[in-house]
Amino acid sequence: MQFQHTETLNQPLRFGEGKQYWINTFGCQMNEHDSEVMAALIENLGYRPASGPEEADLLIINTCAVRKKPEDKVSSMLGKLTVLKEGKNDLIIAVGGCMTQQQDLARHIKNRFSEVDLIFGTHALPRLPELLERAHLEKETVVDIKEDYTGREGLPAARTSTFQAWLPIIYGCNNFCAYCVVPFVRGRERSRRFEAIISEAAALSDQNYREITLLGQNVNSYGHDLPGKPSFASLLDELDRIEGLSRIRFMTSHPKDLSPDLIKTVARGKKICEHFHLPAQSGSDRILKKMNRRYTREQYLALVREIKAAIPGVSITSDIIVGFPGETEEDFSAPLDLLKQVRFDSAFAFIYSPRQGTKAEKLTDNTTYREKEQRLQALNKIQQRISLEENERLVGNLLEVMVEGPSKNNPELQTGRTRTNKLVHFTGPASLTGTIIPICITEARTWNLFGEMEGEPR
Ligand code: 5AD
Ligand code: SF4
Repeated sequence: MQFQHTETLNQPLRFGEGKQYWINTFGCQMNEHDSEVMAALIENLGYRPASGPEEADLLIINTCAVRKKPEDKVSSMLGKLTVLKEGKNDLIIAVGGCMTQQQDLARHIKNRFSEVDLIFGTHALPRLPELLERAHLEKETVVDIKEDYTGREGLPAARTSTFQAWLPIIYGCNNFCAYCVVPFVRGRERSRRFEAIISEAAALSDQNYREITLLGQNVNSYGHDLPGKPSFASLLDELDRIEGLSRIRFMTSHPKDLSPDLIKTVARGKKICEHFHLPAQSGSDRILKKMNRRYTREQYLALVREIKAAIPGVSITSDIIVGFPGETEEDFSAPLDLLKQVRFDSAFAFIYSPRQGTKAEKLTDNTTYREKEQRLQALNKIQQRISLEENERLVGNLLEVMVEGPSKNNPELQTGRTRTNKLVHFTGPASLTGTIIPICITEARTWNLFGEMEGEPR
Protein backbone atom coordinates (compact mmCIF):
# COMPACT_ATOMS: atom_id res chain seq x y z
CA MET A 1 0.00 0.00 0.00
CA GLN A 2 1.20 3.48 -0.82
CA PHE A 3 1.79 5.59 2.26
CA GLN A 4 0.02 8.95 2.19
CA HIS A 5 2.09 11.98 3.10
CA THR A 6 0.07 14.02 5.55
CA GLU A 7 0.82 17.26 7.31
CA THR A 8 1.44 15.51 10.62
CA LEU A 9 3.56 12.72 9.20
CA ASN A 10 5.67 15.08 7.16
CA GLN A 11 5.77 18.13 9.39
CA PRO A 12 8.80 20.15 8.33
CA LEU A 13 11.11 21.52 10.99
CA ARG A 14 10.66 25.28 11.14
CA PHE A 15 14.24 26.28 11.91
CA GLY A 16 13.88 29.24 9.54
CA GLU A 17 11.31 30.96 11.77
CA GLY A 18 12.15 34.66 12.12
CA LYS A 19 14.90 34.39 9.48
CA GLN A 20 15.18 35.75 5.97
CA TYR A 21 16.39 34.29 2.66
CA TRP A 22 17.68 35.65 -0.62
CA ILE A 23 17.98 33.66 -3.85
CA ASN A 24 20.12 34.73 -6.79
CA THR A 25 19.26 32.95 -10.02
CA PHE A 26 21.43 32.59 -13.11
CA GLY A 27 20.46 31.08 -16.45
CA CYS A 28 17.29 29.87 -18.09
CA GLN A 29 13.57 29.79 -17.23
CA MET A 30 13.88 26.27 -15.85
CA ASN A 31 16.35 27.64 -13.31
CA GLU A 32 14.02 30.53 -12.51
CA HIS A 33 11.27 28.06 -11.82
CA ASP A 34 13.57 25.84 -9.74
CA SER A 35 14.27 28.93 -7.63
CA GLU A 36 10.51 29.36 -7.14
CA VAL A 37 10.38 25.78 -5.87
CA MET A 38 13.38 26.41 -3.57
CA ALA A 39 11.61 29.52 -2.25
CA ALA A 40 8.45 27.58 -1.41
CA LEU A 41 10.42 24.79 0.28
CA ILE A 42 12.33 27.19 2.50
CA GLU A 43 9.26 29.31 3.25
CA ASN A 44 7.79 26.07 4.63
CA LEU A 45 10.73 26.08 7.06
CA GLY A 46 9.68 29.51 8.31
CA TYR A 47 12.03 31.70 6.24
CA ARG A 48 10.68 34.92 4.72
CA PRO A 49 12.09 36.77 1.68
CA ALA A 50 14.78 39.36 2.49
CA SER A 51 14.92 42.74 0.79
CA GLY A 52 18.56 42.16 -0.23
CA PRO A 53 21.49 39.77 0.28
CA GLU A 54 22.88 41.85 3.19
CA GLU A 55 19.66 41.26 5.16
CA ALA A 56 19.59 37.51 4.57
CA ASP A 57 20.29 34.68 7.03
CA LEU A 58 20.24 32.22 4.13
CA LEU A 59 21.74 32.94 0.71
CA ILE A 60 21.12 30.60 -2.19
CA ILE A 61 22.86 30.88 -5.54
CA ASN A 62 21.17 28.92 -8.29
CA THR A 63 23.88 28.49 -10.92
CA CYS A 64 24.00 27.99 -14.69
CA ALA A 65 26.61 25.94 -16.56
CA VAL A 66 25.60 26.38 -20.18
CA ARG A 67 28.49 28.73 -21.02
CA LYS A 68 31.59 29.98 -19.22
CA LYS A 69 30.29 33.52 -18.73
CA PRO A 70 27.53 32.68 -16.20
CA GLU A 71 30.03 30.42 -14.42
CA ASP A 72 32.49 33.28 -14.05
CA LYS A 73 29.71 35.50 -12.73
CA VAL A 74 28.91 32.92 -10.06
CA SER A 75 32.55 32.77 -8.96
CA SER A 76 32.81 36.55 -8.67
CA MET A 77 29.48 36.70 -6.82
CA LEU A 78 30.63 33.99 -4.40
CA GLY A 79 33.76 36.02 -3.73
CA LYS A 80 31.62 38.99 -2.74
CA LEU A 81 29.02 37.07 -0.76
CA THR A 82 31.47 35.14 1.35
CA VAL A 83 32.66 38.51 2.72
CA LEU A 84 29.18 38.94 4.23
CA LYS A 85 29.94 35.99 6.46
CA GLU A 86 32.67 37.88 8.29
CA GLY A 87 30.18 39.97 10.20
CA LYS A 88 27.54 37.25 10.39
CA ASN A 89 28.76 33.90 11.55
CA ASP A 90 25.43 32.09 11.38
CA LEU A 91 24.79 33.12 7.76
CA ILE A 92 24.18 30.02 5.61
CA ILE A 93 25.45 30.11 2.03
CA ALA A 94 24.10 27.44 -0.33
CA VAL A 95 25.07 26.92 -3.97
CA GLY A 96 22.83 24.83 -6.21
CA GLY A 97 21.90 24.30 -9.85
CA CYS A 98 23.68 23.15 -12.99
CA MET A 99 27.23 24.12 -12.09
CA THR A 100 27.20 22.19 -8.85
CA GLN A 101 25.80 19.04 -10.48
CA GLN A 102 29.27 18.59 -12.03
CA GLN A 103 31.66 16.83 -9.70
CA ASP A 104 34.73 18.87 -10.62
CA LEU A 105 32.97 22.19 -10.22
CA ALA A 106 31.34 21.16 -6.95
CA ARG A 107 34.80 20.20 -5.67
CA HIS A 108 36.27 23.46 -6.94
CA ILE A 109 33.60 25.54 -5.14
CA LYS A 110 34.08 23.53 -1.97
CA ASN A 111 37.86 24.03 -1.99
CA ARG A 112 37.97 27.64 -3.09
CA PHE A 113 35.08 29.01 -1.01
CA SER A 114 35.25 27.43 2.41
CA GLU A 115 32.46 29.78 3.56
CA VAL A 116 29.94 27.81 1.46
CA ASP A 117 27.83 25.60 3.77
CA LEU A 118 25.86 23.61 1.23
CA ILE A 119 26.43 22.48 -2.35
CA PHE A 120 23.42 20.81 -3.95
CA GLY A 121 22.99 19.69 -7.56
CA THR A 122 19.85 19.90 -9.71
CA HIS A 123 18.63 16.47 -8.55
CA ALA A 124 18.90 17.39 -4.86
CA LEU A 125 16.19 20.05 -5.08
CA PRO A 126 13.50 17.98 -3.28
CA ARG A 127 15.97 17.33 -0.45
CA LEU A 128 16.74 21.01 0.13
CA PRO A 129 14.98 21.25 3.55
CA GLU A 130 16.88 18.32 5.10
CA LEU A 131 20.15 19.45 3.48
CA LEU A 132 19.73 22.90 5.00
CA GLU A 133 19.07 21.35 8.37
CA ARG A 134 22.34 19.42 8.07
CA ALA A 135 24.14 22.58 6.92
CA HIS A 136 23.00 24.24 10.15
CA LEU A 137 24.28 21.40 12.28
CA GLU A 138 27.44 20.25 10.52
CA LYS A 139 30.73 22.12 10.40
CA GLU A 140 31.88 20.59 7.09
CA THR A 141 30.35 21.73 3.79
CA VAL A 142 27.35 19.51 3.02
CA VAL A 143 27.46 18.20 -0.57
CA ASP A 144 24.63 16.42 -2.39
CA ILE A 145 25.20 15.94 -6.10
CA LYS A 146 23.64 12.48 -6.40
CA GLU A 147 21.92 11.74 -9.70
CA ASP A 148 18.60 10.75 -8.20
CA TYR A 149 15.50 11.53 -10.24
CA THR A 150 12.79 10.93 -7.66
CA GLY A 151 10.65 13.27 -5.64
CA ARG A 152 10.15 16.18 -7.99
CA GLU A 153 6.37 15.75 -8.46
CA GLY A 154 4.09 17.62 -6.07
CA LEU A 155 6.68 20.09 -4.83
CA PRO A 156 5.26 23.54 -4.05
CA ALA A 157 6.35 26.73 -5.88
CA ALA A 158 6.37 30.31 -4.58
CA ARG A 159 5.82 32.00 -7.94
CA THR A 160 7.15 35.51 -8.42
CA SER A 161 4.30 36.63 -10.69
CA THR A 162 0.61 36.53 -9.82
CA PHE A 163 -0.56 36.13 -13.43
CA GLN A 164 2.22 34.40 -15.39
CA ALA A 165 3.49 30.98 -14.39
CA TRP A 166 6.29 28.68 -15.48
CA LEU A 167 5.12 25.10 -15.78
CA PRO A 168 7.75 22.40 -16.40
CA ILE A 169 6.49 19.45 -18.47
CA ILE A 170 9.70 17.52 -19.13
CA TYR A 171 13.00 17.53 -17.27
CA GLY A 172 16.41 16.65 -18.69
CA CYS A 173 17.60 16.05 -22.23
CA ASN A 174 18.55 12.99 -24.30
CA ASN A 175 20.00 14.73 -27.30
CA PHE A 176 23.66 15.19 -26.45
CA CYS A 177 24.33 18.00 -28.88
CA ALA A 178 28.12 17.98 -29.06
CA TYR A 179 28.60 21.39 -27.40
CA CYS A 180 26.01 21.09 -24.64
CA VAL A 181 26.43 20.33 -20.95
CA VAL A 182 22.69 20.13 -20.20
CA PRO A 183 22.28 16.33 -20.58
CA PHE A 184 25.13 15.92 -18.07
CA VAL A 185 23.73 18.29 -15.46
CA ARG A 186 19.99 17.73 -15.89
CA GLY A 187 20.04 14.02 -16.64
CA ARG A 188 17.88 11.99 -19.04
CA GLU A 189 14.41 13.07 -20.17
CA ARG A 190 11.59 12.55 -17.68
CA SER A 191 8.12 13.66 -18.76
CA ARG A 192 5.74 14.70 -16.03
CA ARG A 193 2.47 12.78 -15.98
CA PHE A 194 -0.15 14.24 -18.35
CA GLU A 195 -2.75 14.52 -15.57
CA ALA A 196 -0.29 16.17 -13.18
CA ILE A 197 0.35 18.93 -15.72
CA ILE A 198 -3.34 19.42 -16.51
CA SER A 199 -4.25 19.62 -12.84
CA GLU A 200 -1.42 22.06 -12.07
CA ALA A 201 -2.56 24.26 -14.99
CA ALA A 202 -6.18 24.09 -13.80
CA ALA A 203 -5.09 25.00 -10.26
CA LEU A 204 -3.11 27.95 -11.63
CA SER A 205 -6.17 29.09 -13.57
CA ASP A 206 -8.25 28.84 -10.35
CA GLN A 207 -5.66 31.09 -8.68
CA ASN A 208 -6.22 33.65 -11.48
CA TYR A 209 -3.05 32.94 -13.43
CA ARG A 210 -3.74 33.90 -17.03
CA GLU A 211 -0.60 32.78 -18.82
CA ILE A 212 1.38 29.58 -18.48
CA THR A 213 4.70 28.83 -20.17
CA LEU A 214 5.40 25.13 -20.59
CA LEU A 215 9.07 24.42 -20.02
CA GLY A 216 11.39 21.70 -21.25
CA GLN A 217 14.82 21.50 -22.91
CA ASN A 218 12.89 19.92 -25.74
CA VAL A 219 9.11 20.13 -25.25
CA ASN A 220 8.55 18.27 -28.53
CA SER A 221 9.79 15.02 -27.10
CA TYR A 222 7.21 15.20 -24.29
CA GLY A 223 5.48 11.91 -23.52
CA HIS A 224 7.72 9.36 -25.28
CA ASP A 225 8.63 7.87 -21.88
CA LEU A 226 5.06 7.73 -20.52
CA PRO A 227 2.54 4.88 -20.81
CA GLY A 228 0.47 5.37 -23.96
CA LYS A 229 3.03 7.93 -25.22
CA PRO A 230 0.84 11.06 -25.14
CA SER A 231 2.17 13.67 -27.56
CA PHE A 232 3.07 17.27 -26.82
CA ALA A 233 0.37 18.33 -29.30
CA SER A 234 -2.28 16.39 -27.35
CA LEU A 235 -1.11 18.03 -24.11
CA LEU A 236 -1.43 21.48 -25.67
CA ASP A 237 -4.88 20.60 -27.02
CA GLU A 238 -6.06 19.61 -23.55
CA LEU A 239 -4.56 22.70 -21.88
CA ASP A 240 -6.23 24.91 -24.49
CA ARG A 241 -9.58 23.79 -23.04
CA ILE A 242 -8.90 25.19 -19.55
CA GLU A 243 -11.47 27.95 -19.24
CA GLY A 244 -9.66 30.57 -17.14
CA LEU A 245 -6.34 30.62 -19.00
CA SER A 246 -5.77 33.25 -21.69
CA ARG A 247 -2.34 32.33 -23.02
CA ILE A 248 -0.26 29.19 -23.33
CA ARG A 249 3.39 29.45 -24.31
CA PHE A 250 6.02 26.75 -24.64
CA MET A 251 9.78 26.47 -25.04
CA THR A 252 12.17 25.11 -26.30
CA SER A 253 11.42 23.24 -29.54
CA HIS A 254 14.05 21.00 -31.07
CA PRO A 255 13.59 21.19 -34.86
CA LYS A 256 14.11 17.45 -35.32
CA ASP A 257 11.09 16.60 -33.14
CA LEU A 258 8.59 19.27 -34.18
CA SER A 259 5.62 17.37 -35.58
CA PRO A 260 3.10 18.45 -38.27
CA ASP A 261 0.47 17.71 -35.61
CA LEU A 262 1.96 20.32 -33.32
CA ILE A 263 1.86 22.95 -36.06
CA LYS A 264 -1.83 22.15 -36.63
CA THR A 265 -2.53 22.34 -32.90
CA VAL A 266 -0.88 25.75 -32.55
CA ALA A 267 -2.71 26.98 -35.67
CA ARG A 268 -6.07 25.84 -34.29
CA GLY A 269 -5.52 26.62 -30.56
CA LYS A 270 -7.28 29.64 -29.14
CA LYS A 271 -4.89 30.29 -26.29
CA ILE A 272 -1.74 28.75 -27.67
CA CYS A 273 0.53 31.63 -28.61
CA GLU A 274 1.93 31.91 -32.14
CA HIS A 275 5.58 31.76 -31.22
CA PHE A 276 8.21 29.07 -31.70
CA HIS A 277 11.63 29.26 -30.11
CA LEU A 278 13.31 26.96 -32.58
CA PRO A 279 17.10 27.10 -32.18
CA ALA A 280 18.89 26.49 -35.48
CA GLN A 281 22.38 26.66 -33.83
CA SER A 282 24.05 26.74 -37.26
CA GLY A 283 23.14 27.04 -40.92
CA SER A 284 25.95 24.85 -42.20
CA ASP A 285 25.25 21.16 -42.80
CA ARG A 286 28.84 20.29 -42.00
CA ILE A 287 28.67 22.04 -38.62
CA LEU A 288 25.14 20.81 -37.86
CA LYS A 289 26.44 17.27 -38.29
CA LYS A 290 29.41 17.91 -36.03
CA MET A 291 27.02 19.42 -33.51
CA ASN A 292 24.89 16.24 -33.62
CA ARG A 293 21.73 18.24 -34.28
CA ARG A 294 20.25 15.59 -36.58
CA TYR A 295 18.67 17.88 -39.16
CA THR A 296 20.01 19.56 -42.27
CA ARG A 297 19.77 23.17 -43.22
CA GLU A 298 17.17 22.30 -45.85
CA GLN A 299 15.06 20.34 -43.36
CA TYR A 300 15.16 23.32 -41.01
CA LEU A 301 14.13 25.71 -43.78
CA ALA A 302 11.30 23.39 -44.86
CA LEU A 303 10.02 23.30 -41.28
CA VAL A 304 10.04 27.08 -41.06
CA ARG A 305 8.13 27.29 -44.37
CA GLU A 306 5.55 24.83 -43.05
CA ILE A 307 5.09 26.79 -39.80
CA LYS A 308 4.80 30.13 -41.57
CA ALA A 309 2.30 28.77 -44.10
CA ALA A 310 0.07 27.27 -41.40
CA ILE A 311 0.17 30.09 -38.84
CA PRO A 312 -0.23 33.63 -40.16
CA GLY A 313 1.72 36.21 -38.16
CA VAL A 314 3.74 33.54 -36.30
CA SER A 315 7.03 34.60 -34.77
CA ILE A 316 10.07 32.37 -34.90
CA THR A 317 13.11 33.00 -32.73
CA SER A 318 16.41 31.16 -32.64
CA ASP A 319 19.72 30.55 -30.94
CA ILE A 320 22.91 30.44 -33.00
CA ILE A 321 26.36 29.33 -31.90
CA VAL A 322 29.28 31.12 -33.53
CA GLY A 323 32.77 29.68 -33.66
CA PHE A 324 32.02 26.00 -33.09
CA PRO A 325 35.35 24.08 -33.38
CA GLY A 326 36.42 23.87 -36.99
CA GLU A 327 33.95 26.47 -38.25
CA THR A 328 35.55 28.03 -41.34
CA GLU A 329 34.69 31.39 -42.90
CA GLU A 330 32.67 29.43 -45.45
CA ASP A 331 30.74 27.55 -42.74
CA PHE A 332 30.09 30.85 -41.06
CA SER A 333 28.49 32.42 -44.13
CA ALA A 334 25.83 29.68 -43.93
CA PRO A 335 24.14 30.96 -40.72
CA LEU A 336 24.23 34.49 -42.13
CA ASP A 337 22.40 33.24 -45.16
CA LEU A 338 19.99 31.27 -42.95
CA LEU A 339 19.11 34.43 -41.01
CA LYS A 340 18.28 36.17 -44.27
CA GLN A 341 16.17 33.31 -45.55
CA VAL A 342 14.20 32.63 -42.38
CA ARG A 343 13.97 36.23 -41.18
CA PHE A 344 13.82 35.36 -37.47
CA ASP A 345 11.96 37.82 -35.28
CA SER A 346 14.99 37.66 -33.04
CA ALA A 347 17.99 35.39 -32.62
CA PHE A 348 20.36 35.05 -29.69
CA ALA A 349 23.89 34.42 -30.83
CA PHE A 350 26.57 32.99 -28.57
CA ILE A 351 30.26 32.42 -28.99
CA TYR A 352 30.97 28.72 -28.57
CA SER A 353 32.14 27.99 -25.06
CA PRO A 354 33.91 24.64 -24.43
CA ARG A 355 32.10 22.61 -21.76
CA GLN A 356 33.70 19.88 -19.74
CA GLY A 357 32.73 16.33 -20.65
CA THR A 358 31.09 17.24 -23.96
CA LYS A 359 32.13 15.79 -27.31
CA ALA A 360 33.04 19.17 -28.77
CA GLU A 361 35.48 19.87 -25.96
CA LYS A 362 37.88 17.42 -27.57
CA LEU A 363 37.68 18.89 -31.08
CA THR A 364 40.53 21.03 -32.36
CA ASP A 365 39.69 24.66 -32.75
CA ASN A 366 41.92 26.92 -34.82
CA THR A 367 39.77 30.02 -34.85
CA THR A 368 40.94 32.81 -32.55
CA TYR A 369 38.56 34.39 -30.04
CA ARG A 370 39.01 37.71 -31.84
CA GLU A 371 37.76 36.14 -35.10
CA LYS A 372 34.80 34.63 -33.26
CA GLU A 373 33.93 38.02 -31.81
CA GLN A 374 34.01 39.51 -35.29
CA ARG A 375 31.71 36.76 -36.58
CA LEU A 376 29.34 37.37 -33.67
CA GLN A 377 29.23 41.08 -34.44
CA ALA A 378 28.60 40.50 -38.14
CA LEU A 379 25.78 38.09 -37.33
CA ASN A 380 24.19 40.38 -34.76
CA LYS A 381 24.32 43.29 -37.18
CA ILE A 382 22.39 41.39 -39.82
CA GLN A 383 19.87 39.99 -37.33
CA GLN A 384 19.26 43.39 -35.76
CA ARG A 385 18.38 44.83 -39.13
CA ILE A 386 15.99 41.93 -39.79
CA SER A 387 14.41 42.25 -36.30
CA LEU A 388 13.80 45.94 -36.92
CA GLU A 389 12.30 45.30 -40.37
CA GLU A 390 10.04 42.56 -39.02
CA ASN A 391 8.90 44.86 -36.20
CA GLU A 392 8.26 47.70 -38.65
CA ARG A 393 5.77 45.50 -40.47
CA LEU A 394 3.61 45.62 -37.33
CA VAL A 395 3.22 49.41 -37.25
CA GLY A 396 -0.47 50.24 -37.64
CA ASN A 397 -1.60 46.78 -36.42
CA LEU A 398 -3.90 46.31 -33.45
CA LEU A 399 -2.31 43.66 -31.22
CA GLU A 400 -3.41 41.95 -28.03
CA VAL A 401 -0.92 42.80 -25.27
CA MET A 402 -0.66 41.24 -21.82
CA VAL A 403 0.51 43.97 -19.46
CA GLU A 404 3.47 42.98 -17.25
CA GLY A 405 3.89 46.27 -15.32
CA PRO A 406 5.75 49.59 -15.47
CA SER A 407 8.73 49.73 -17.82
CA LYS A 408 12.11 49.32 -16.08
CA ASN A 409 13.63 52.33 -17.85
CA ASN A 410 10.64 54.65 -17.76
CA PRO A 411 8.00 54.09 -15.05
CA GLU A 412 5.58 56.36 -16.95
CA LEU A 413 5.30 53.62 -19.54
CA GLN A 414 3.68 50.22 -19.13
CA THR A 415 5.27 47.13 -20.65
CA GLY A 416 3.57 44.08 -22.04
CA ARG A 417 3.94 41.31 -24.58
CA THR A 418 2.12 40.37 -27.74
CA ARG A 419 1.04 36.78 -28.29
CA THR A 420 4.15 36.50 -30.47
CA ASN A 421 6.29 37.45 -27.44
CA LYS A 422 7.26 40.96 -28.60
CA LEU A 423 7.79 43.61 -25.97
CA VAL A 424 5.43 46.61 -26.26
CA HIS A 425 5.63 49.91 -24.34
CA PHE A 426 2.65 52.26 -24.03
CA THR A 427 1.30 55.02 -21.78
CA GLY A 428 -1.26 53.80 -19.25
CA PRO A 429 -1.92 53.25 -15.55
CA ALA A 430 0.02 50.61 -13.57
CA SER A 431 -3.37 49.18 -12.53
CA LEU A 432 -3.46 47.48 -15.95
CA THR A 433 -0.82 44.95 -14.82
CA GLY A 434 -2.07 41.44 -15.47
CA THR A 435 -4.75 42.48 -17.96
CA ILE A 436 -4.89 41.96 -21.71
CA ILE A 437 -5.48 45.06 -23.77
CA PRO A 438 -5.62 45.93 -27.49
CA ILE A 439 -2.70 48.18 -28.47
CA CYS A 440 -2.24 49.94 -31.78
CA ILE A 441 1.45 49.76 -32.73
CA THR A 442 2.82 53.21 -33.57
CA GLU A 443 6.59 52.74 -33.59
CA ALA A 444 9.02 49.88 -34.09
CA ARG A 445 12.54 49.44 -32.74
CA THR A 446 14.95 46.52 -32.90
CA TRP A 447 14.11 45.05 -29.49
CA ASN A 448 10.62 46.42 -28.83
CA LEU A 449 7.52 48.18 -30.06
CA PHE A 450 5.64 51.28 -28.94
CA GLY A 451 1.90 51.72 -29.12
CA GLU A 452 -1.32 53.28 -27.85
CA MET A 453 -4.20 51.70 -25.97
CA GLU A 454 -7.24 51.19 -28.09
CA GLY A 455 -10.10 49.57 -26.25
CA GLU A 456 -10.81 48.11 -22.87
CA PRO A 457 -8.65 45.72 -20.81
CA ARG A 458 -10.04 42.27 -20.13
N1 5AD B 1 28.59 27.36 -26.08
C1 5AD B 1 27.84 28.38 -26.56
N2 5AD B 1 26.50 28.36 -26.57
C2 5AD B 1 25.88 27.29 -26.05
N3 5AD B 1 24.59 26.99 -25.90
C3 5AD B 1 24.49 25.78 -25.33
N4 5AD B 1 25.70 25.29 -25.08
C4 5AD B 1 26.60 26.20 -25.53
C5 5AD B 1 28.01 26.26 -25.56
N5 5AD B 1 28.76 25.26 -25.09
C6 5AD B 1 23.52 27.86 -26.38
C7 5AD B 1 22.66 27.17 -27.41
C8 5AD B 1 21.38 26.92 -26.66
C9 5AD B 1 21.36 28.06 -25.71
C10 5AD B 1 20.46 27.88 -24.53
O1 5AD B 1 22.68 28.19 -25.29
O2 5AD B 1 22.45 28.06 -28.48
O3 5AD B 1 20.26 26.89 -27.52
FE1 SF4 C 1 21.55 21.01 -25.06
FE2 SF4 C 1 20.86 19.99 -27.45
FE3 SF4 C 1 19.59 19.17 -25.22
FE4 SF4 C 1 19.18 21.66 -26.14
S1 SF4 C 1 18.64 19.74 -27.21
S2 SF4 C 1 19.57 21.06 -23.98
S3 SF4 C 1 21.19 22.18 -26.96
S4 SF4 C 1 21.74 18.84 -25.71
